[in-house]
Amino acid sequence: MASSAPRVSGEILLCRLEEIPDGDSRGFDPLREGRDTLMVIRQGTSLHAWRDACPHISGVPMAWRKDAYLNACRDRIVCSAHGALFDIATGLCTLGPCLGDSLEPMSVRLEGGSILWRPGQPRLPR
Ligand code: FES
Repeated sequence: MASSAPRVSGEILLCRLEEIPDGDSRGFDPLREGRDTLMVIRQGTSLHAWRDACPHISGVPMAWRKDAYLNACRDRIVCSAHGALFDIATGLCTLGPCLGDSLEPMSVRLEGGSILWRPGQPRLPR
């Protein structure tokens, strides 16, 4: 099994903030599972992180290609399988087959320009 990504005090370094363009998204495979399991959407210096798994069908990855988690307007997360739309900030499905369900929040934070993820600690819903 491959080693995991660099760790900082129990947290895993995902990338630098500037590696995600403002208003864009990026997927990560921090535990080296062979596919992206975590998505981060950047809005300025605000970060929204969700497990890359659609609540419609458990475990289904959401991007239609690497790092493509947003709709054309970049105002919703979209699942490529059946088109469900999710609020970026709350993770709530606002349209589609899992209406009312939510993405699973992940705990990320920004420190010194680095985006860090703490494994096993979902962020509390807003
Ligand atoms: S698996 Fe995501 S909308 Fe169906």
